[in-house]
Amino acid sequence: MSTEGKNSRPDKVTTQTVVDMKQSREKISMLTAYDFTMAGIIDSAGVDVILVGDSASNVMAGFDTTVPMTMDHMIYHTSCVVRGVKKALVIADLPFMSYQVTAKEALISAGRMMKEAGAHAIKLEGGKSITATVQRIVDAGIPVMGHLGLTPQSIYKFGTYKVRAKEEREAEELLRDAKLLEEAGVFSIVLEKIPSELAKKVTESVAVPTIGIGAGPHCDGQVLVLHDMLGLNKDFSPRFLRRYADLHSSMTEAVGNYIKDVKSGDFPNESEQYN
Ligand code: KIV
Repeated sequence: MSTEGKNSRPDKVTTQTVVDMKQSREKISMLTAYDFTMAGIIDSAGVDVILVGDSASNVMAGFDTTVPMTMDHMIYHTSCVVRGVKKALVIADLPFMSYQVTAKEALISAGRMMKEAGAHAIKLEGGKSITATVQRIVDAGIPVMGHLGLTPQSIYKFGTYKVRAKEEREAEELLRDAKLLEEAGVFSIVLEKIPSELAKKVTESVAVPTIGIGAGPHCDGQVLVLHDMLGLNKDFSPRFLRRYADLHSSMTEAVGNYIKDVKSGDFPNESEQYN
């Protein structure tokens, strides 16, 4: 029996597929994953794009920010995800300080992510300051996704995770950055935590698809952190998050029942042992 979800695509998703989806006005679904098992589940459910986000720093490693993530951490998570995926496009975040120093270093980092981890594309945070780097990586044949708005690797510059680009000057800068990233060759841009009307303007101003998180309904696609949308993280409830399950409660209940059965001697029973 097929285990594939009803939304599953017949073919592998490529960067061209997501660009074509914008043209045909088909919304793009993207979720994060960091391991083989979860990646396999969301891939067979039919998600278009899987992002191995450096949010692994928060949800897998327990750090407060994404700053501590290293290339070795991201290569490990990405290679686990790639082994679990048959159809989705797998994009990996390049971690903080693996691409900001020089375009040459950035190209080496991007190359490692493709060769050692098997990523299909990489994602970088930033606008004008990274366009030469984007161009260099794209010229080498590596597809790049941009990321504007709230860029968590710059948390110590922002000082807060609040909505970005509410003021006109920052909004204009973001729109300019989106166009510069497109010119530099990105195939798509994540827009994180910006006003919905600004996301609409950006989406209408670039030919490449925008993927929103806390950026309203006008983006060409949406992304959520898997642990958040599955309700694994009960203390994180920003306005933009929709929870599709309450796995924190389900897991707590399941583990509680297991402990009870072990303590009472009910587990294992006759059919759960070898004679
Ligand atoms: O790291 C991440 O999970 C991300 C998404 C929130 C877009 O960059």
